[in-house]
Amino acid sequence: MTDLPPARLLAIETSCDETAAAVIEDGRALVSSVVASQMELHAHYGGVYPEVASRQHVLSIVPVVEQALAQAHITLADVDAIAVTRGPGLAGSLVVGVNAAKGLALGAGIPLVGVNHLEGHIYSAWVYDAGEVPPPEPQFPLLALLVSGGHTELNLMTDHLTYKRLGSTLDDAAGEAFDKVARLLGLSYPGGPSIQKAAEEGDPTRFKFPRARLEGTWDFSFSGIKTAVLYEGRNFEKAGKHLPVADMAASFQAAVVDVLFGKTLAAAREFGAKEILVAGGVSANRALRQAFKSQTEFPVHIPRIALCTDNAAMIGAAGYFRYALGHVSEMDMDVQPTWPLS
Ligand code: KG4
Ligand code: ZN
Repeated sequence: MTDLPPARLLAIETSCDETAAAVIEDGRALVSSVVASQMELHAHYGGVYPEVASRQHVLSIVPVVEQALAQAHITLADVDAIAVTRGPGLAGSLVVGVNAAKGLALGAGIPLVGVNHLEGHIYSAWVYDAGEVPPPEPQFPLLALLVSGGHTELNLMTDHLTYKRLGSTLDDAAGEAFDKVARLLGLSYPGGPSIQKAAEEGDPTRFKFPRARLEGTWDFSFSGIKTAVLYEGRNFEKAGKHLPVADMAASFQAAVVDVLFGKTLAAAREFGAKEILVAGGVSANRALRQAFKSQTEFPVHIPRIALCTDNAAMIGAAGYFRYALGHVSEMDMDVQPTWPLS
């Protein structure tokens, strides 16, 4: 993409429980990235408490933006455009970031770029640290597996900002399944990292949890496996035995990874993709990363762990391509909490 204009963006992300800001150049070179996590606030409730989240965003947004600019050694006068997540996400959280971005863009007299959070996750694969040798850019057609707490989708990307949604989850998202199963197993929130940790000590072959392959579609379903874990747990309870948490976590993780990996590879073959991209919070999962890295059929792009979960760098990357390709937003842009976005 050498023919796109150079630009430095300030990006803001407040769709859920992280207040984040970043400075990124030309959609790839990450100059600074600040993420203020609210994880400890919400852990107490076993999940994200929306009202608490939006109030915390209000407190954190200004210091987080200031920190991102300071770490990049720039001021707002050095920024060409402001990218912000407009959805999907929690309405009360989104509105904090969107209004901060509008105020900054208006004040500085620079364009505002509304970014879809899911598009942001996909573009996290374009990001590298400024000063490093740029890794190869993902090549189209690209098969993108997006696995987050709220979404699980297979998208065929034929060009920048051009997606064909092949399938998505019919019930729980993959991350949601990790979170719910963690709760069933008495593990702490957020469930993904807890299950991964418990699974390290476990036998992934002990329980044969169902793999919903939904043959003939590119859709997913994770509610059945969640129920299977619940029933298996009850059997142990009824027998007065301790839950074999590590083996259950490992067997659950293996089943989810099996389905995600298998369907993504099949879709890449079917749609003639050149490369595969895996993004979203669940792409931080070691077993999932390992599955993709152990195959040699397709080059695979998986962001580094810090860019898998919510951050503003990815919003800046997607925002750059939107900005450079002429998709600037109006100042009356509203939040769009639900998918699909226009
Ligand atoms: O992308 P993300 O940070 O937020 C959303 O946009 O939803 O994803 C959060 C999800 C949570 O469900 C969390 O449990 C899951 O990603 N997650 C993981 C891991 N780290 C985070 N799931 C499995 N293994 C992990 N290591
Ligand atoms: Zn996310």
